[in-house]
Amino acid sequence: MKLPESFYNPISIAGALMAIVTLLLMGALLAAMSLFGSASSYVGLFIFIILPIFLVIGLLLIPVGVIRRKRQIKKGADESDFTRRMVIDLNNHKHRNAILLFAAGSVVFLFLTGIGSYEAFHYTESTEFCGLLCHRVMEPEYVTYQNSSHARVACVECHVGEGADWFVKSKLSGLYQVYAVVTDIYPRPIPTPVHNLRPARETCERCHWPNKFYSYRIHTEKHFLTDEANSEWNIHLKMKTGPEYSSMGLTEGIHWHINPDIRIEYISDDEKRESIPWVRAINLAEGDTVIYKDINSFVEDSVIAEAEIRVMDCIDCHNRPSHQYLSPRAFTDLMIASGSVPASLPEIKRVAMEILNQQYSTSDSADHAIEAGIAGFYAENYPELTDDQKNEVKAAIKALQKGYSENIFPEMKASWDAYPNHIGHFEFQGCFRCHNGTHADNADNRISRDCNICHTIILQGGPETESVALANESLEFIHPNDIGEAWKEFSCAECHRYMY
Ligand code: HEC
Ligand code: HEC
Ligand code: HEC
Ligand code: HEC
Ligand code: HEC
Ligand code: HEC
Repeated sequence: MKLPESFYNPISIAGALMAIVTLLLMGALLAAMSLFGSASSYVGLFIFIILPIFLVIGLLLIPVGVIRRKRQIKKGADESDFTRRMVIDLNNHKHRNAILLFAAGSVVFLFLTGIGSYEAFHYTESTEFCGLLCHRVMEPEYVTYQNSSHARVACVECHVGEGADWFVKSKLSGLYQVYAVVTDIYPRPIPTPVHNLRPARETCERCHWPNKFYSYRIHTEKHFLTDEANSEWNIHLKMKTGPEYSSMGLTEGIHWHINPDIRIEYISDDEKRESIPWVRAINLAEGDTVIYKDINSFVEDSVIAEAEIRVMDCIDCHNRPSHQYLSPRAFTDLMIASGSVPASLPEIKRVAMEILNQQYSTSDSADHAIEAGIAGFYAENYPELTDDQKNEVKAAIKALQKGYSENIFPEMKASWDAYPNHIGHFEFQGCFRCHNGTHADNADNRISRDCNICHTIILQGGPETESVALANESLEFIHPNDIGEAWKEFSCAECHRYMY
C-alpha cells in the first residue's frame, strides 16, 4: 500500500503513531474492563475521555503535516528528500532500536499524561476543590458541612453519581459555574432545592441501609426563655422514627414513607417546596390510591393538573443532612446549654436575640455589632457586674460571634431563613406541610396532625417544674409561656419562624 508522497513527513507520521498507540491502549483497556467485569467510572474516564483526546490530536496531526509538507513541495523542496530517508529496515539494529525507543517513549508519555489528567480529575472531585477553591461562594455549604454528621462524606458522593453521564453532566455544569464566579453573575444565595442532586435513595442508602432502619429514639432539647433569668425549659421526645420493634421493619412510624410498598407523591406550588397543596398516597402492595387536598389552598385544579409531581424520598424530610443553617434561637440555645454562653448572665438570651436577628451586610459588621451590642448593654444596664462576670460577657461575645459565623453568611445571603429545614415543624412548616390537619381526601379523612403519631412527649418543663411520663404514655404538650390554646389553632412555625 502506498500513500501520497506528502504523507511521509515527521509530523504526520508522529500523529499516526500516536493515534495507533492510543487506539491500542483503548482496546487493551476495554478488553481488560470486559474481562474483569465492569470497573469503576475511573477506567471509563480513561477510555472515554482522556485517551480519545490523544486520538483526536494524533489524527489532527496527520493533515497538519500533509498540508505543511505540500507547501514545502510547492516552494520547491526536494520531493523525495524525506521519503528516501524514511526507509525503515528492521534488519538494521539502529532502526530497530530507534523504533523500540520511540514506541516505549510514546507509551510512557501517554501514561504520564494520563496519570496527570487523572490526578487533575481526582482533584476536581475532592472536598477541598469543591469547598475551598470557590471559597467565598461555597463557604456557607463548606462550613455547615464541616459541622455536620457527614463531614467525612465527600461532596461528590452526594452531589455526583457514578458513571460517564454524571461525569459529563457535573463537569459541564462545573464549567458554567466557574464562568459564573469569574464574571460575578452567580446567584446569592445559591438556589435550593438542587434539581440535579444525585437521587437520594441511591446516595443515602449506600450507607443507611433501609432494611436495618431505626426504631424509637430519645430526642432531647434544652431551651432558654427571654426572661431575666434565661429560664431553662426541657423537652424530651420519644421519636417514632421507626416501628415500636425493629423487627417490624418499615411498616409503621416516620420511615413508613420510604417503605418500598408505599409511594407518596406531591405537588408543590413554590420554589422551595414549602407549600404542598396536593398529596397522593399509593399503596403499591394493595393497589389503593388516596388523594389529599389542602382545604385551605387556593391553587386551581388546572394548575395542579399541569404541575410536576414529585415522589417523596429522604431529601423531602432530610433536606439539610449536611448543610444545616441554625437560627439564632437554635444556636444560642445550644451555646447556653453547653456553657459557652454563660446562663448566669442576666438577660443574655434576650439581648443576643435582639442583636443576632438584625440584618448585617458583612460578617465583619456582624462581628462588630455583636461585640458592641453586648458589651454596651451590660456596661449600661449592669454596671455592678463583678470582674468574673465581665469575663463571662467576653466569653459570651466570642461564642456568639462564632455561632453567627458558622450559621449566617451575609455575603452569600445564606442563612436558616434562606434554607428552610423540612425536619420537624418548629421554625418551618416541615412535616406540617402535609400533617397540618388540613389535607383531606374525598371522605374527609385527614393526614394526621395528632401530636402523638410522630413522637410522644416524655418529659417537659423547667428544672424544678418538670413532669415526666410513664414509659408508654405521653404528656400533653405545655407551651413554655402562656399562649392559651394558640398552639392548637396555629402551627408552631406561624409564630416561631418570625418571632424575634
Ligand atoms: C450527605 C450528603 C451531602 C454532602 C456530603 C454534601 N452535600 Fe451539598 N447538599 C446536599 C443536599 C441534600 C442539599 C440540598 C438539596 C435540596 O434542598 O434540594 C445540598 C445542597 C448543596 C448546595 C445548594 C445550596 C444549599 O445550601 O442548599 C450546595 C452549593 C452544596 N450542597 C455544596 C456542597 C459542597 C461544596 C459539599 C462538600 C464540601 C457538599 N455540598 C457536601 C447533600 C450533601
Ligand atoms: C458515606 C456514607 C454516608 C452517606 C452517603 C450518607 N450518610 Fe448519613 N450518616 C453517615 C454516618 C456514618 C452517620 C453517623 C454520624 C455520627 O453519628 O456522627 C450518618 C448520620 C446521619 C443522620 C443522623 C444524624 C443527623 O445529622 O441527624 C441522618 C439523618 C443521615 N445521616 C441522613 C443521611 C441522608 C439523608 C443521606 C443522603 C443525602 C446520607 N445520610 C448519606 C454516613 C453516610
Ligand atoms: C417523612 C420524613 C422522612 C423521610 C422520607 C426519611 N426520614 Fe429519616 N428521619 C426522619 C425523622 C423525623 C427522623 C428523626 C429525627 C429526630 O430524631 O429528631 C429521622 C431519622 C433518621 C436517621 C437517624 C436515626 C437515628 O435514630 O439516629 C437516619 C440515619 C435517617 N433518618 C435516614 C434516612 C434515609 C436514608 C432516608 C431515605 C431512604 C430517610 N431517612 C427518609 C424523617 C424522614
Ligand atoms: C408530602 C406529604 C407528607 C409529608 C411532607 C410528611 N408526611 Fe407523614 N404521611 C403522609 C401521608 C399521606 C400519610 C398517610 C396518611 C396518614 O396516616 O395520616 C403519612 C403518615 C405518617 C405517619 C403514620 C405512619 C404509620 O402508618 O405509622 C407518620 C408517623 C408520619 N407520617 C410522620 C411524618 C413526619 C415526621 C414528617 C416530617 C419529617 C412527615 N410525616 C412528612 C404524608 C406526608
Ligand atoms: C407529622 C409528625 C409530627 C406531628 C404530627 C407532630 N410533631 Fe412534633 N415533632 C416532629 C418531629 C419530626 C420533631 C423533631 C424535629 C427535629 O428533629 O428537630 C418534632 C419536634 C417537636 C418538639 C420539640 C421542638 C424543639 O426543637 O424543642 C415539640 C415540643 C413538638 N414536636 C410538639 C408537638 C406538638 C405539640 C404536636 C401536636 C400539635 C406535634 N409536635 C405534632 C414531628 C411531629
Ligand atoms: C401564638 C404564637 C406561638 C405559637 C403558635 C407557638 N409558640 Fe412557642 N413561643 C411563643 C412565644 C411568644 C415564646 C416565648 C419566647 C421566649 O420567651 O423566649 C415561645 C417559646 C417557645 C419555646 C421556647 C423557645 C426558645 O426560645 O427556645 C418552645 C420550645 C416553644 N415555644 C415551642 C412551641 C411549639 C412546639 C409550638 C407548636 C406546637 C409553639 N411553640 C407554638 C409563641 C408561640
